[in-house]
Amino acid sequence: MAKTLGIGITGGIAAYKIAELVSKLKQDGIDVVVMMTEGATKFVSPLTFRTLSGREVITDLWQESNEWKVQHIGIAEEIDLLVIAPATANFIAKMAHGIADDLLSTVVVANTAPVLVVPAMNTNMYNNPIVQDNIKKLAGYGYHFMKPDSGNLACGTSGKGRLPEIDHIYKEIKRMLYPKKDLEGKRVMVNAGTTCENIDPVRFICNRSTGKMGYCIAEEAFARGADVILVSGNSPLDSIPGVQFIPVWSAEEMCEVMLEYQPDCDIIIGAAAVGDFRVANIATQKLKKAENYEENKILLELVGTPDILKELGKKKRDHQIMVGFAAETENLIENARKKLESKNLDFIVANDVTVEGAGFASDTNIVTFIFRNGDITSLPKMSKEEVAAAILNQVVELM
Ligand code: PMT
Repeated sequence: MAKTLGIGITGGIAAYKIAELVSKLKQDGIDVVVMMTEGATKFVSPLTFRTLSGREVITDLWQESNEWKVQHIGIAEEIDLLVIAPATANFIAKMAHGIADDLLSTVVVANTAPVLVVPAMNTNMYNNPIVQDNIKKLAGYGYHFMKPDSGNLACGTSGKGRLPEIDHIYKEIKRMLYPKKDLEGKRVMVNAGTTCENIDPVRFICNRSTGKMGYCIAEEAFARGADVILVSGNSPLDSIPGVQFIPVWSAEEMCEVMLEYQPDCDIIIGAAAVGDFRVANIATQKLKKAENYEENKILLELVGTPDILKELGKKKRDHQIMVGFAAETENLIENARKKLESKNLDFIVANDVTVEGAGFASDTNIVTFIFRNGDITSLPKMSKEEVAAAILNQVVELM
């Protein structure tokens, strides 16, 4: 059945880019209802969107309409997905506080369809804790946010805040409009983030993992209908609504939790950066330094932590699919292949973490899938959301 999409355009310079998006969606046979705030109409004429969408563009709460229904209620009932792009700081604040004082904000309050918000603004505005709190609040209500890109901004500065590429927004809209439910009835356990090993009561050893990669996999698996357990080491990210969240600290703790849940899982994906070493003797008191820093010297004895995937791999049942990652700095394929074998995985996702745009902390990754039969698939640079979708597509194929 043909889908109807509501696009709310708010008053930012990126408003002009939405013309290309509307045109692409229209060519796919999607019925696009364009709504513009007064600010948006200062940047682009509604006529542009009327021409591209083939529908009346709605800008005013009091606009005359042929429909018998109250305009904002009628639109809210009609749409399968509501997209706000670009979303300004002001409009995000209005949404977060349920303010309904113009056509678009009224549609947002009356809407029951899923919502995709695409912020675009100056870096300092985006990083402002009030804006970030509003985003978190809306995410908690199930609103889905795309992260802005980094680069040159219209205000003359450079940083995070650019509207993501139209192609990325287009793909995200298609993903949300036609959600795959191919993991319905499956239980998926994902680990993410960095494990931490205590040195003393205030210090610990960890690594550069932020958890982004693993959280994207958990979110995508949940969106595709799976029952998801996210076992997370240290990460600045928020838990994902609907996903069972088990925070852990050390590699041993992560291993214990995953072994406990393993028997009930159909799919296990290890994206966490698990520390391979822990401190042999954790100091019970904070280690003191010498008066003169040049005399400071502490030798830490490190011993091994359990290899979690290897332990799980020993107990892997026939129906279970296990996927691991390999974070390499040299000999990507060769090293990853060894890990694939030794951990009894179905396939491994290798990333060279020395390459820009791949591995730790970035919003993108560049990965290669290596399979047990020797097949290799190298993917181009993609957002971590897209990598997560590609991994789960592969899992579904194996199922
Ligand atoms: O979290 P981000 O900032 O988004 O960064 C993403 C990432 C770089 C962490 C991710 O893409 C990644 O590569 N994760 C695996 C990191 C890692 O520990 O790789 P490894 O090659 O050391 O380990 C191989 C596999 O064994 C991994 O699946 C790892 O989770 C697992 N392992 C490793 C050691 C250990 N003691 N137990 C394990 O289970």
